[in-house]
Amino acid sequence: MDTVLSGIRSTGRLHLGNYFGALRNFIKMQHDARCFFFIADYHSLTTHPDPKMLHDNVRGVLSEYLAAGLDPSVATIYVQSDVPTVAELSMLLSMHAPVGELERTASFKDKIRKHPDNVNAGLLTYPVLMAADILQHRADKVPVGKDQEQHLEMTRVYARRFNSFYGVEYFKEPTAYNFGTELVKVPGLDGSGKMGKSEGNGLYLSDPDEEIRKKVMRAVSDSGPTREGEPMTEPVANLFTLLRLVSSPDTVAFFTHAYNSCSIRYGDLKKQLAEDIVAVVAPIRQKIEQIRNDDGFLHRVTSEGAERARESSSKTLADVREIMGIKRF
Ligand code: ADP
Ligand code: TRP
Repeated sequence: MDTVLSGIRSTGRLHLGNYFGALRNFIKMQHDARCFFFIADYHSLTTHPDPKMLHDNVRGVLSEYLAAGLDPSVATIYVQSDVPTVAELSMLLSMHAPVGELERTASFKDKIRKHPDNVNAGLLTYPVLMAADILQHRADKVPVGKDQEQHLEMTRVYARRFNSFYGVEYFKEPTAYNFGTELVKVPGLDGSGKMGKSEGNGLYLSDPDEEIRKKVMRAVSDSGPTREGEPMTEPVANLFTLLRLVSSPDTVAFFTHAYNSCSIRYGDLKKQLAEDIVAVVAPIRQKIEQIRNDDGFLHRVTSEGAERARESSSKTLADVREIMGIKRF
């Protein structure tokens, strides 16, 4: 059985793009593979979050993923800093991470360009810690977006380099996992390509109903088809893509027919779309709130997760120490 590891940033709320994109696949995958999910709070320290906010951010992200369907009884869900053995593994791996290589990493160059006042060593060694996250569990597959592919490639380089330097076949090289054709691209409501945090066009799982209705009613459309069989413009095609994700086949058929017969009223479509999105989001939002306030549950989930993660991490660390020649008297 494959081991899959997914690292989750400790900031940022989930939007429908994340939910219908990667997250739904995670939820299916947790039953077919040995899955680890962790909140990367150590990594977030590179940008100096307010200490008063850090824990709340972790709580928020964790609650959202649990509410969306990650199941702690099948997957191992933990907080990175609850398993500090990863820091020692990262330190050991850093001995084979040339500084020049780290300085050439795209994410590092990007960060120093944007924040020249905060170029810290943690930022430089970010990919090493990420490699330790992955290699500690000997993960086969790592679901990552485009922006993380270089980090994963560096993980493979570290694994190879370690094996060849010490003459062992210890680490396996993890591969990126993007769910292939199962990944749907969720469009934005602003007529552009994709829904995203950075695009500023997200419909969030934590959005109140009224907020969702407001955002959907403001969605870009066009002046309507004037002849039968007219191809849809991108903004309208996007509305239909969203409709297919959240609405019943009857609703989709109704508006498709209205479009094809040039009788469509986008206001009606948006109203229906908003209600169908609310029907998906509202129960999740309520669950997020419930979990967020349930300290006992969060404590139980993260304690059990950390315990399982520690077991797998400690075993790897013991092996690596031995391979590198560290022995106890
Ligand atoms: P964002 O673009 O909001 O910053 P992230 O980079 O945090 O999103 O994405 C986390 C995961 O969610 C990635 O695996 C990505 O593939 C998925 N994802 C994000 N936006 C979308 C979208 N609009 N459609 C499908 N999947 C998405
Ligand atoms: N760097 C990842 C991001 O920004 C988060 C992350 C940290 C991660 N460690 C990881 C992802 C290990 C996958 C595997 O999204």
